[in-house]
Amino acid sequence: MALGTTGLKHWAALLLPVMRTVDRPAILILGGGLIGLAIAHQLARRGQAVTVLSRRRSEAAGFVAAGMLAPHAEALAGEQLTLGQASLARIPTWVEQIEADSGLPCGLRPCGIVVPFATATERDAYPTAAWGEALERTDLEREVPGIGPSWQAGLLFAQDGQIDNRRRLMRALERACAGLGVAFEEGTEVLALERSAAGELQGVRLRRADGEELCLAADRAVLACGAWSARLLPQLPVFPVKGQMLSLQGPIGALNRVVFGPGTYLVPRDDGLLVVGATSEPEAGFGEGLTPAGQRQLQAGISALLPAACRWPPMERWWGFRPCTPDEGPLLGESPVPGLWLACGHHRNGVLLAAITAGLLADALAGGRDAETTRWLAAFSWRRFQG
Ligand code: GLY
Repeated sequence: MALGTTGLKHWAALLLPVMRTVDRPAILILGGGLIGLAIAHQLARRGQAVTVLSRRRSEAAGFVAAGMLAPHAEALAGEQLTLGQASLARIPTWVEQIEADSGLPCGLRPCGIVVPFATATERDAYPTAAWGEALERTDLEREVPGIGPSWQAGLLFAQDGQIDNRRRLMRALERACAGLGVAFEEGTEVLALERSAAGELQGVRLRRADGEELCLAADRAVLACGAWSARLLPQLPVFPVKGQMLSLQGPIGALNRVVFGPGTYLVPRDDGLLVVGATSEPEAGFGEGLTPAGQRQLQAGISALLPAACRWPPMERWWGFRPCTPDEGPLLGESPVPGLWLACGHHRNGVLLAAITAGLLADALAGGRDAETTRWLAAFSWRRFQG
């Protein structure tokens, strides 16, 4: 039997109330930084409705970090090294997806990272030395033309690299998310979690940019508020570790490898911009601003690593807050609040770990959890800090 227009309206009227009761609210992503966007993107790719709540775009660690992809140069160990290596392996495909969905380049540069040492003994004792190529002084001079005289040995981690997080990746991810229908609420601060009598997540209370306060219903949300994550769930052991940075404009091609020195690293973009990081200041808490001591540390690092760069014109100076945990590993997966998922505490490795974090959380939330996902979520559960 063919239905006329009147018949269709009649059927729609009968069906709509039913559909409303079975439709689940969108998954809320609390935090519009790199981790939140990466999860939103993967969820949207899996057909999920997603809303990103972002307080202030500019404070996201994704705009602050240098973009190193450096599990070996950072000397990660144990499960954190394995997680970092697994994420590094996923990055080319992850970037291809973002570039395809956004039409924008992400600035992935598999350029290798050189870690210099004063002596070969220090080099050979480096925790990840087995994954690198041992360099002598002449090799160092070839890999890092103009390297300072105090470095006599090095390790080249050819598998490590960088991505242009500040200028490209974040924009591409935002565009990719928007193109897949992710809703954004920028300027929205999440004030509290709303929970049922049984403790389950029911939604969030938020304040919009115009000052309006309201509750948004949700039975699933991801806490990706970076260094601020414990403000919504105080039992989470997440605290800020401030980092100050700067950038210089060097000649194109003057430096091709990332140089990862003690206390200072140099990350050369393909247009010659040199991103220099970073102080590590847990004692600063959420104290904002640059300090003379922090900037002097970076200047001393530049002069020791690449003296010629001291004459390159300065471009920007900035600071941010790494989200740290007591063991410096992330919190991934379920939280003490049923319905609330964790993706925070990535410390120095948020850019590196964004790919695997997004995949794991999206698989878990969209029902595609396999044995590998289950294993990682157990290894990085918040429960490891209990009692
Ligand atoms: N990923 C390097 C840093 O946090 O300084």
